[in-house]
Amino acid sequence: MKFKALTAAVALFAAPMAFAGGADDDNLVINGDLEITTKAAAPQHLDGVLDEVISGWHFRSDETQALEMDDFDNPGMIFVDQAVDQWNTAEGSEGKSCADCHGAPEDMAGVKAVYPKWNEAAGEVRTLQMQMNDCRTNRMGADAWKYDAGDAINMVALMSSVSRGMPVNVATDGPAAELWQKGKDLYYTRTGQLELSCANCHEDNYGNYIRADHLSQGQINGFPAYRLKNAKLNGVHSRFKGCVRDTRAETYSPGSEEFIALELYVASRGNGLSVEGPSVRN
Ligand code: HEC
Ligand code: HEC
Repeated sequence: MKFKALTAAVALFAAPMAFAGGADDDNLVINGDLEITTKAAAPQHLDGVLDEVISGWHFRSDETQALEMDDFDNPGMIFVDQAVDQWNTAEGSEGKSCADCHGAPEDMAGVKAVYPKWNEAAGEVRTLQMQMNDCRTNRMGADAWKYDAGDAINMVALMSSVSRGMPVNVATDGPAAELWQKGKDLYYTRTGQLELSCANCHEDNYGNYIRADHLSQGQINGFPAYRLKNAKLNGVHSRFKGCVRDTRAETYSPGSEEFIALELYVASRGNGLSVEGPSVRN
């Protein structure tokens, strides 16, 4: 059984020669003037593992890449517009909108770049969605949003869009270190019938083809990602869920502690890349 599983895993990466190839050399400039850093020297914690970190944009086809180079062509921007309306809408028992306390969405520039982030008062690492739900339930008297869905993912896309071009800079030390280590352990744990870890695909085999799909480093600087496959914005945890399921393993739920840990760790693997979301992927 074990032998069979490994054979299946090896067969997955049999790259047809005609297709083999790593990241391309294109440059991502959005709307003609917003330069996105899509390749950067790897952060120190990846010493001996990766020299360079590379956005998933480099592994997509020219057609898919082009959709992200102009906000009028990027289908993810429709959801950003919806989030702007939501931002200005008063909700809950306090009758307040996000704007009442935070001003314009642009005033949140830089926030997305440092999340997930330790919250001292709460004594926990928070994803952006956890923080937004804290604002909703504790400051607005409104219902929490469902994780990775509707308003929540639209608002993450808005927060991301106003930080585009800024370097991802997630803290891995201090009080966040414990959860970061947990995320790192998960990243290197082989799961499922295929006995594959995130690293087996996204560290050992990026640039190769797996079936018809060009493997990237599995970076999350471009999230949320509008996927042509399901024609909607996809959150980080939903993406993780799909990847774990592909190894034929039991998976965790969006918003679970495991995925929060994994998000923290994977985000830190992209430290130095630009915030790029909402991106377009296949
Ligand atoms: C009544 C005022 C209030 C409202 C309304 C409010 N927030 Fe907040 N928000 C805060 C405060 C205060 C903080 C800082 C909290 C902390 O650090 O624990 C915060 C923090 C945040 C942060 C993290 C900022 C950072 O630098 O880490 C985000 C993102 C955020 N809010 C989004 C939202 C969104 C989206 C809405 C609307 C759905 C909203 N907030 C509504 C008061 C508010
Ligand atoms: C069997 C191989 C495989 C494994 C194991 C795997 N993935 Fe993936 N993953 C893929 C493929 C294929 C894609 C789509 C092409 C791409 O972007 O690499 C993908 C895409 C992604 C993306 C989207 C990248 C982008 O720029 O849009 C992220 C993030 C990701 N994976 C994270 C993970 C994490 C975290 C794990 C471990 C829990 C994992 N993956 C395990 C195959 C895998």
